[in-house]
Amino acid sequence: MRNITVNNITDAVVKSLGDDVPARNREIMASALKHMHDFCKDVNLTYDEWLEAMAWMRRAGDITDDARSEFILISDILGIEVLVDMLDKKVTDGETVSTVLGPFYRDNPPVLPNGATIVQKDFDGSQSVRVSGVIRATDGAPVAGVTVDVWEDAPNGMYEQQDPDQPDYNLRGRFETDENGRYEFVALRPVPYPIPYDGAAGELLNYMGHHPWRPGHIHFMIQKPGFKTLVSQIYDSETEYLDNDSVFAVKEELIGEMKPSSGDTDLEMAFDFTIRSDAKLGMAAE
Ligand SMILES: [Fe+2]
Repeated sequence: MRNITVNNITDAVVKSLGDDVPARNREIMASALKHMHDFCKDVNLTYDEWLEAMAWMRRAGDITDDARSEFILISDILGIEVLVDMLDKKVTDGETVSTVLGPFYRDNPPVLPNGATIVQKDFDGSQSVRVSGVIRATDGAPVAGVTVDVWEDAPNGMYEQQDPDQPDYNLRGRFETDENGRYEFVALRPVPYPIPYDGAAGELLNYMGHHPWRPGHIHFMIQKPGFKTLVSQIYDSETEYLDNDSVFAVKEELIGEMKPSSGDTDLEMAFDFTIRSDAKLGMAAE
């Protein structure tokens, strides 16, 4: 197309897609182009606004490194990570709902026996909580030998890799369910924390008039060969920000109750999970 206008630009770019690009590339790019062009037209985007957006993306790239992905944070603020998670991991068989992994997972946490504590450093005023439950298959049968990774922020609102004063892998652990499908560990009551807002993601929060806070939660990654990996978070029913999580990741069924404990911790919380067999994935897709 030689004479490009506001009315034919979208068609021109879509038609420019190579004849032999894979079908999925074509599907994604044709839709993305249409929506992006429509967006520019909808808001009558000015050249200065476009330039500012380009500079903002440059800043997002500049602050990104192995320990920090500004683009994931931006995606979170826009509700896109949680949307993609819901689209990609639809609940089909009564399994526990997933939610976002977030940027703070670390592989190879300390392998601990059931009932052990993940707390390597105490904080004044923190409350200990014994977290336990049963992991079941969708037919209700307990599943033994499930790997359960857990991680949470410290009472100062920081994950250990953000905080030079915490021991390596503090508040992280890897457990395995016993023959009755039970897992159990001791943690600290999780506190709300702000997602990092000193970079491009923070600029976007300001632009949108949003706060950076997340409700207190404990992360779980639950894995066993033959089952779909479940990545989720359990929220403290008494935490702030349950109704206005900065990354929109709260689900009602993931809210757990921390009750006063009769044992050696301040609190206890029971939370059971249901995981779906991998075989059901194929059936759901059919
Ligand atoms: Fe988190």
